Amino acid sequence: MAKSPELRPLLEMRHVSKTFGANKALRDVQLTIYPGEVHALMGENGAGKSTLMKILAGAYQSDPGAEIRIDGKPVVIGDPLAAKAHGISIIYQ
Ligand SMILES: Nc1ncnc2c1ncn2[C@@H]1O[C@H](COP(=O)(O)OP(=O)(O)OP(=O)(O)O)[C@@H](O)[C@H]1O
Ligand SMILES: [Mg+2]
Repeated sequence: MAKSPELRPLLEMRHVSKTFGANKALRDVQLTIYPGEVHALMGENGAGKSTLMKILAGAYQSDPGAEIRIDGKPVVIGDPLAAKAHGISIIYQ
């Protein structure tokens, strides 16, 4: 859906990759969320959904080269407390 140009994304994740040993769980993933949106992240088992959310929540660190912006500002989410400071938390099933 087209967004009005003055509406800024609340969250932007760009170039997110995550390697576990020989296994590339995420390859150059991007996610953009605008204010008020609700998203469902869908994919088969092992697609990398939890890994992406754990990176957002500071539980995992992405491979180098990723960019995360909140309200347009670049942020580093080094641990869960940093995520919390940005208003990000995860409710696990
Ligand atoms: N801590 C870890 N160490 C090694 N490999 C991991 C780790 N966490 C995830 N992986 C691997 O990364 C890939 C993505 O896993 P992830 O758990 O993110 O998928 P998912 O989409 O959440 O799957 P599910 O639907 O089963 O919850 C899988 O190949 C998984 O085996
Ligand atoms: Mg999962």
